[in-house]
Amino acid sequence: MPTAIVAGATGLIGRRLVSLLLESGDYDRVHVLVRRPTGVRDARMVEHTVDFNELSSARGDVGPVDHAFCALGTTIRSAGSREAFRRVDHDYVVAFAQLAKALGAKHFAVVSSLGADPGTRNFYLRVKGETERDLQSLDLPRLVILRPSLLTGERAEFRPGERISQLLLGMTSPLLVGKLGRIRPVSDQQVAAAMLRSVQGDGPAMQVIQSEDIRSV
Ligand SMILES: NC(=O)c1ccc[n+]([C@@H]2O[C@H](COP(=O)([O-])OP(=O)(O)OC[C@H]3O[C@@H](n4cnc5c(N)ncnc54)[C@H](OP(=O)(O)O)[C@@H]3O)[C@@H](O)[C@H]2O)c1
Repeated sequence: MPTAIVAGATGLIGRRLVSLLLESGDYDRVHVLVRRPTGVRDARMVEHTVDFNELSSARGDVGPVDHAFCALGTTIRSAGSREAFRRVDHDYVVAFAQLAKALGAKHFAVVSSLGADPGTRNFYLRVKGETERDLQSLDLPRLVILRPSLLTGERAEFRPGERISQLLLGMTSPLLVGKLGRIRPVSDQQVAAAMLRSVQGDGPAMQVIQSEDIRSV
């Protein structure tokens, strides 16, 4: 049975993903790298409380892994500054991919964002694009990048901007067809399920799953 490793396991998508990994019965070990407990009790799960600035030092504690999943991320507001946001959404993600590669992961799936582009003037999307670019340069055995539109799901933290966008896009969702289908919100469950499905079977060394395709992967 394969072994999985997850970063971002306490987040909206990460929590869903860990549930799906455990429910699938396909993994005999699920390692999660966290800075606070997940609250999940399962004999197959191993929680590692780590310093994300020193991720490489987790190598000895984890051991070999097959599939790696990254749902790390923050907001500029939560992080406190653009620099702190970039540290999480770029530096920690790339460091986690390096760790996963060193641990032997054959598959790395990561949540990015609709519109990620290293050349854009939008700071958030530029960081996401730079992260994608730098992940590609790591020469991972297989890299799957998911680019969801706005996420829906039960979040403990109140994010006013996200809530307003959810209401607006939720009301207009039936009208979002054709090319507009790409901005239709996707749920945490749909993204997590797509991450899990992406490891099944063979695929190209690099694959980008756009938001409108997340439901059908
Ligand atoms: N929100 C949206 O509508 C949307 C749309 C498209 C793409 N995305 C992207 O999707 C990804 C997942 O989103 P999400 O909503 O599931 O994220 P989330 O709920 O905010 O969870 C983020 C995860 O990252 C961890 N994290 C944040 N800051 C950290 C830090 N300084 N050190 C260590 N860990 C840290 C969190 O740990 P703690 O629990 O310890 O904080 C949590 O496990 C993100 O990359 C996000 O940018 C989001």
